Amino acid sequence: MKVVTVVGARPQFIKAAPVSKALRETGHQEFLVHTGQHYDYEMSQIFFEELHIPKPDVNLEIGSGSHGRQTGRMLIHLEEVMQQQKPDLVLVYGDTNSTLAGALAAVKLHLPLAHVEAGLRSFNRRMPEEHNRVLTDHCADLLFCPTQTATDNLSREGITQNVHLVGDTMYDAVLQFAPIANRRSTILSDMNLKPKDYSLATVHRPYNTDIPENLRNILTAFLEIGEPIIFPVHPRTRKHIEALNVPTFQHANIQFIDPVGYLDMLVLEQHARLILTDSGGMQKEAYFFEVPCLTLRPETEWVETVEAGWNIVVGANQSRIIEVAGSYVWPEDTPPPIFGDGQASYAIVRHFAQCH
Ligand code: UD1
Ligand code: UDP
Repeated sequence: MKVVTVVGARPQFIKAAPVSKALRETGHQEFLVHTGQHYDYEMSQIFFEELHIPKPDVNLEIGSGSHGRQTGRMLIHLEEVMQQQKPDLVLVYGDTNSTLAGALAAVKLHLPLAHVEAGLRSFNRRMPEEHNRVLTDHCADLLFCPTQTATDNLSREGITQNVHLVGDTMYDAVLQFAPIANRRSTILSDMNLKPKDYSLATVHRPYNTDIPENLRNILTAFLEIGEPIIFPVHPRTRKHIEALNVPTFQHANIQFIDPVGYLDMLVLEQHARLILTDSGGMQKEAYFFEVPCLTLRPETEWVETVEAGWNIVVGANQSRIIEVAGSYVWPEDTPPPIFGDGQASYAIVRHFAQCH
């Protein structure tokens, strides 16, 4: 079977890596399209190198822009690629603008569409990702859900055909790459960090970056927590932190660093005391590594991690962040396995036969 895969943003490279491996191992042909939504070396190329993802067959180099402009430009070019390639299936991941453009291009050409990480919902329509997910799920012919909640969400929207609960390909990636990260990464010694002596933070959601009060609340809470916080800064966040113009942020316990590669991130996560994040992927990775997580958003799609007691939704609420970081008693039990068995990628590829 010939598959056109569309990726473009950092988490999609990670989600796609194990599926791409499974696809190629089982004799399928993959034509890999990078939309160019993310383009800095540390937001893109480093993941291809570290996760041994084949070089994209084409990079559309769309780059940044407003949502309509970015998605529209992707759509124009993806349609051309799909017309040339004539795949048996188009494969998209997650909920970015690259996902939506891939989905629309495919269905307009009557090409079968598979969506990995289907069924996630925040029920917050102010989130750009929520539209991307809902629209992609309603276009897709094959829907691969990471959790039971995701399949239930689809069912409530009337989507019950060709829905498969396969587990999470980010869990597959962690199982494949954590041992490699632990052998190769020198980030702890490079940064002079001791296990469980620091926390790890990331922030990139528009709700936190584009509303100065929220960003200020989060950073002020981090200052008050007082202990070392390693903060790899997403490029959209850097300029917003600079705009706050609070010089103490630079000299206190918060260490702002450039985005790190996946292997360094896996090591930083495993040894953190806490993970404070608005990232979807990092909430899950915290859970895989049994590291308590504070979710810096008003809600989460990964509700099972909250139900298990390993993730607390704190929003951008300064006093709540400080209180939970300091006093919450985390569970002692091993978290239940809610993201599958680490073989989601192979399960996905087995279902492709349905579209042939
Ligand atoms: C996108 C996704 C989001 C995902 C995130 C993962 C959408 C709507 N959002 O958000 O769901 O969680 O990726 O990281 O698709 N920039 C650079 N260099 C880069 C990439 C971005 O400097 O390599 C800067 C640009 O100023 C750009 C801004 O970051 O305008 C935002 O980039 P964009 O891809 O539009 O959205 P993200 O916030 O990264
Ligand atoms: N990540 C990384 N380096 C960083 C920040 C994140 O390797 O500096 C990885 C992280 O481990 C996870 C993924 O990127 O696998 C999450 O991506 P991001 O937070 O950008 O997007 P989201 O998951 O929120 O869509």
